[in-house]
Amino acid sequence: MACIVIAGDVHGAIGLFYEQALKLQDELKEPIEAILQVGDLQVYSEDSHVDKAVRVHGGPGEFPQWFKEQRPAPIPTYSILGNHDDAMLFHRFAGKEIVPSLHLLPQGEVVSINIGSRIIRVGALGGNYSPKYFHYAPADLSQSKLKHYTETHINALVEKAPFDILLTHEAPDGVAIKDGIDLGRPEIGELIRKTKPQFAFFGHHHWHTKAEIGGTTVVGLARIQRDGGMYPVRY
Ligand SMILES: [Fe+2]
Repeated sequence: MACIVIAGDVHGAIGLFYEQALKLQDELKEPIEAILQVGDLQVYSEDSHVDKAVRVHGGPGEFPQWFKEQRPAPIPTYSILGNHDDAMLFHRFAGKEIVPSLHLLPQGEVVSINIGSRIIRVGALGGNYSPKYFHYAPADLSQSKLKHYTETHINALVEKAPFDILLTHEAPDGVAIKDGIDLGRPEIGELIRKTKPQFAFFGHHHWHTKAEIGGTTVVGLARIQRDGGMYPVRY
């Protein structure tokens, strides 16, 4: 058996993130082969433009320093894009390691990850929905608009199915309901129904929830500081 952990939004607290992951590894008494992270790590450099929400919530956090020093992640990590990441910087490093052992997953792609003696396939749909940009060709998204996913990314994942795990930043519809309002997205629900992964994980909404869509176990991750921010899975 091999253990992986799916982690929620980090929002710049990367030191705490790995501290908690290593503590969890001790508690589990087995190595965590990989961490899959659902976006809003707050991938920024010192030169990045930081949006108002990030400024209000304490600035970009520790990532610019890790990036500058190229500090390695202590556990191999695979992150998707959030809406509070420098989308241009993220896309520059998508498909690569932004610091050693921290891989950024390209939008609409499926990657194969070695864990122990097996390989798992992970589909990535980071970023958030925009009614204006959803039908744009990805190549026509400029600068900060790169933080939005598009219909093209979703269709690419449908074509590349099957995969074991789907990572999205936003929730599918029907599972993240607040004050009677469904915060999730129907096109993500449809993507899950069409591709039928074993698991679909999302972040963004910062609370832990578990549901089922068409046979797929759907898990919303809390922020990493809170209960339900890290979710171990064994293969
Ligand atoms: Fe977010």
